[in-house]
Amino acid sequence: MNYYRPVHPRVLGIACLFLCACGVIAANAQGIAKLDKSAVPSRSWMDQSLDPDTRADRMIHEMTLDEKIQLVHGSGWGVLRAGDPVAPGHNGGAGFVPGIVRLHLPDINLADSAVGVRMAALDSRYATLLPSVIGMAASWDPDAAFLYGSVIGRELRAEGYNMSIGGGVNLIREPRNGRNFEYASEDPILSGVMVGQLARGVQANHVMGDIKHYAVNDQETGRNTLNALLDERALRETDLLAFQIAIELSHPAGVMCSYNHVNGAYACENDFLLNQILKHEWGFKGFVLSDWSGTHSTVKSALAGLDMEQPGDDKFFSDPLKQAVLNGEVPMSRLDDMVHRIVRSMFATGVVDQPPMPRSVVDPFRGRDDARKIEEESIVLLQNSGDILPLSSSKIQSIAIIGGHADAGVLSGGGSTQVDAPGGNAIDPRPGTSTWGKPVYFPSSPLRYIREQAATGARIDYDAGNDPAQAAKVAGAADAAIVFVTQWMSEGQDAATLSLPNQQDALVEAVAAANPNTIVVLETGGPVSMPWAAHVKAIVESWFPGIGGGEAIANVLFGRVNPSGKLPVTFAATERDLPHPHITGQTESTGNNGADAAAARDQLRNFPVDYNVEGMAVGYRWFQEKNLTPLFPFGFGLSYTRFAYSNLKVDGDAKSVSFELRNTGAQAGDEIAEVYVTLPAPAGEPFRKLAGWKRVHLAAGASQRVEVSLDSLYLSIYSTSKSAWTRPGGDFLIEVGGSSAQLPQRQSLRLSAR
Ligand code: BGC
Repeated sequence: MNYYRPVHPRVLGIACLFLCACGVIAANAQGIAKLDKSAVPSRSWMDQSLDPDTRADRMIHEMTLDEKIQLVHGSGWGVLRAGDPVAPGHNGGAGFVPGIVRLHLPDINLADSAVGVRMAALDSRYATLLPSVIGMAASWDPDAAFLYGSVIGRELRAEGYNMSIGGGVNLIREPRNGRNFEYASEDPILSGVMVGQLARGVQANHVMGDIKHYAVNDQETGRNTLNALLDERALRETDLLAFQIAIELSHPAGVMCSYNHVNGAYACENDFLLNQILKHEWGFKGFVLSDWSGTHSTVKSALAGLDMEQPGDDKFFSDPLKQAVLNGEVPMSRLDDMVHRIVRSMFATGVVDQPPMPRSVVDPFRGRDDARKIEEESIVLLQNSGDILPLSSSKIQSIAIIGGHADAGVLSGGGSTQVDAPGGNAIDPRPGTSTWGKPVYFPSSPLRYIREQAATGARIDYDAGNDPAQAAKVAGAADAAIVFVTQWMSEGQDAATLSLPNQQDALVEAVAAANPNTIVVLETGGPVSMPWAAHVKAIVESWFPGIGGGEAIANVLFGRVNPSGKLPVTFAATERDLPHPHITGQTESTGNNGADAAAARDQLRNFPVDYNVEGMAVGYRWFQEKNLTPLFPFGFGLSYTRFAYSNLKVDGDAKSVSFELRNTGAQAGDEIAEVYVTLPAPAGEPFRKLAGWKRVHLAAGASQRVEVSLDSLYLSIYSTSKSAWTRPGGDFLIEVGGSSAQLPQRQSLRLSAR
């Protein structure tokens, strides 16, 4: 395979001769071509006082057609596919685009990094595993999201990468979606804000950021073939709104288009999504890159707005695109636009002026501390009967810890997000990078930290939980039992049901029957059903908790940390209450990933997934509209203290709301105060929508007047007849409180249309 095809050999030869003669090329530890700036004759685009667009234009002016083509596709599967050639300069990530040495343009080295840098162990490197993105979103803390992105950006740089592939902002429409742990929430505003802050954090480290998978890639079953159907208004107000907010906040270098079709056209050749909305309406200045093998055509994709094919075999944006430009099917101006978008993003993010430092290393302890801090804000306390938590060392002298490999570590999510565990998988250590499809545990043992924090002399027993009867015996002999339950989730497959796998419901029931003080700690990719909820005292959702997870969980159980996370998704009691009780396309004979397998045989086959069933009523809105009671509602989460709301005031034009928040309990804590708006009836949206929130820290007994500003977009609807967002006139209801289902403060006000 000709993976390094780009530059005409003569041009390359002359350039190399010139540069080598000047002695200007060096190679850093990661093999990245590096230029000694002092020895290079100054190029006008290297003038840092110029804006990125001018710099890009000046450079492109000097480029040959081959050099332009070189920049708009990757160099093949490289390390992702055993046996494939790895291009020189490739840093071991999922993608590589060779730079142009003679023009001073560095290579682009892309690494999957949704929850930390992937495949670091391939090269004996270390990367921090952060809590899952859904967990980070459960903190509702934009600063935590920024920190999250900063850890990723910092470590990418230290490992020699200059582009992150992450920033999943797909809406959690399907609670069984295998990738929900990579996404933020079921609400477009919460998702957009949190993922936008994450991408800002990445780019603050002079690493190009990415937002993905554009758009409506909301289930894994049949992801390569499915046709997501969603009317324009619903599309704009839900899935696209999350992208819009994240992109406006972070100005990412890249937006990755998804595998699926959207309303009939592949996302990566969808003129409406790419040209009309993303680039024209939202003014996105970066480049659109395809998901890996998500490009399906040359001319159609190029004209629809795709700027870079990844991973770029020899298929569409290499020689075929060159031919299409030469024969006029794709205008040269369009190729220039593609290249401009890539190069201007490299200048804008500092990738050219501040390249990754050679030979720097990741600081594992700093990463671990950041991961733990984020996890401590992400853990959601779902139930706490009789205030059994925090565990009191005077009352609890013996604890049985059951299941979930709690003795060894914490679970991580699978697929292209998989970070390599230091020392290998904690339950099956082997050298090298992780194996696709195999659950990986990270060495942060909850058992160890529980032992450390339990009362001196307390007895802590561990049982693996493989046999419910045996586990019940161990639990029955202790003052309290803590059951760790897990739900491994991965890219490429959805869960068939909301139930915990491997008969863990039976395990919890058995333990709960044996010990009245049973506490369940969940490590899940998203919502699960809990038929045993009424039989246990406490329930703690820790998501996939990251490398600091074991300690963070123990800190919450023993009260060193007062839990403050709130659910970014609804936990339904049963799949019967979901808009799609069965995942479309998922059958027993095809298995979870059946339609994906079929896609390989027949790329053109597609099947509809009708999201118009719920349309705008995603998640909690569906539950309200259908008058269904979930197991745990969106926005819900308990604390070891209590908060009271009073005295709501809404300013005349609903630009902001303010209210009194008081900590009425005996200890300090953080409250996430939520503001919801219900639009006037003619808007046709019979549900409340999140419009703003604030995370507030209050000492015991303290109170504060809290102000939350409301973006007028969030009080608007998308009018397809006007092709614009408009605020309907009429009576708006504003509600404030600590959960979407408990909003003690409310006020209605009449607003004029706008
Ligand atoms: C995933 C992307 C990922 C890419 C590269 C694809 O299968 O959908 O999210 O970035 O692979 O690994």
